[in-house]
Amino acid sequence: MFANVERLPADPILGLIEAFNKDTNPNKIDLGVGVYRDAEGTTPIMRAVKEAESLLLQSETTKAYIGSHGDPAFGKHLLPLVLGQQSPLLERASLTQAPGGTGALRLAGDFIKRIDAKKKVWLSNPTWPNHQAIFKAAGLETASYRYVDTESNQLDFPALLADLKQIPQGDVVLLHACCHNPSGFDLNQQQWQEVLAVLKERELLPLLDFAYQGFGEGLEEDAWAVRLLAEHLPEVMITASCSKNFGLYRERTGAFIAVAATADDMEKVRSQLAVVARSNYSNPPAHGSSIVATILGSQELRPLWEEEVTEMRERINTLRQDFVKALEPHGLAEKFACVAQQKGMFSYSGLKPQEVERLQKEFGIYMVSSGRMNIAGYNQQNLEYLCTAIAATCKA
Ligand code: LMR
Repeated sequence: MFANVERLPADPILGLIEAFNKDTNPNKIDLGVGVYRDAEGTTPIMRAVKEAESLLLQSETTKAYIGSHGDPAFGKHLLPLVLGQQSPLLERASLTQAPGGTGALRLAGDFIKRIDAKKKVWLSNPTWPNHQAIFKAAGLETASYRYVDTESNQLDFPALLADLKQIPQGDVVLLHACCHNPSGFDLNQQQWQEVLAVLKERELLPLLDFAYQGFGEGLEEDAWAVRLLAEHLPEVMITASCSKNFGLYRERTGAFIAVAATADDMEKVRSQLAVVARSNYSNPPAHGSSIVATILGSQELRPLWEEEVTEMRERINTLRQDFVKALEPHGLAEKFACVAQQKGMFSYSGLKPQEVERLQKEFGIYMVSSGRMNIAGYNQQNLEYLCTAIAATCKA
């Protein structure tokens, strides 16, 4: 059987890790996979996480299963972080812990398929490439709505709105709650209000991918759109991730959240999610969720964690400004001005696939072929090298 197996290409994002590791160029820079890096180019374990881990080492008494919905303490603390402390939404919201944001998206896909297999999932163009793969694997059809105008490399809001208005009633629309991946172009509050009006009018079901809470404008500020939609629509699905804001990438810690019209509906949805999780992986892993619950429930660790999230966000924003400034002497500041305005970890740089290929081959600079750069991937030591390489590539 194995002899007939088709060999598939590497993942467009994860495949870059291996290619980068193999590269012997001493100046190589990894702007590929979305992991935060500090000024030294490392992805540190956050201080609050280390402290929580040492508390857990002392206090943990069992490795028994935690149940299909995961650790109740994790849900108790994460739900208000997403929906707001004291929010009335909490009464009709259910959280199911999942193996990372990816696992949460797969739960969403499997759940939709079980309830109404005919529903299409509408994705922004562009979107995170794995979105399409996840919903396809769940047996759902996907389609796209316009988001970025490739000519100007800007958010095309009129096109986005026009496309949303054409989506058949009842379909699912995946929206990036903040820090759009891959573009970094976010909607402003007025634009979100306009999206809400269309969702309402066409009775569309939003699925908010919320993987970067705290990386855009702040932990509370970034939840604005999630809360707006959850407060004004009867039903909303949210996938949250603790990979970035807790730096728990490899611990696979995320959640699927359903906000239902009533508490009774919420219980029905919850019963379905337990079955979906059970047939996928039975129980989610416990280490990451215990860390998150410990931090969010601690009067000492929570402020430390909030401070660290702020540090990461501010560092990324400074890197954005520095990048555009460093391109000034090359006459490219205007061409790349959008980088200073985009939000979150990623920027759609506007670099074309052939330019990205040259940067990789000739300079050892790795980014996704769409031109998506991980802003946290460069630092003060290699910024000049990066900008000189970009200038050489753009002018050639
Ligand atoms: C990314 O977009 O680079 C991250 O979300 C990592 C991944 O799984 O693709």
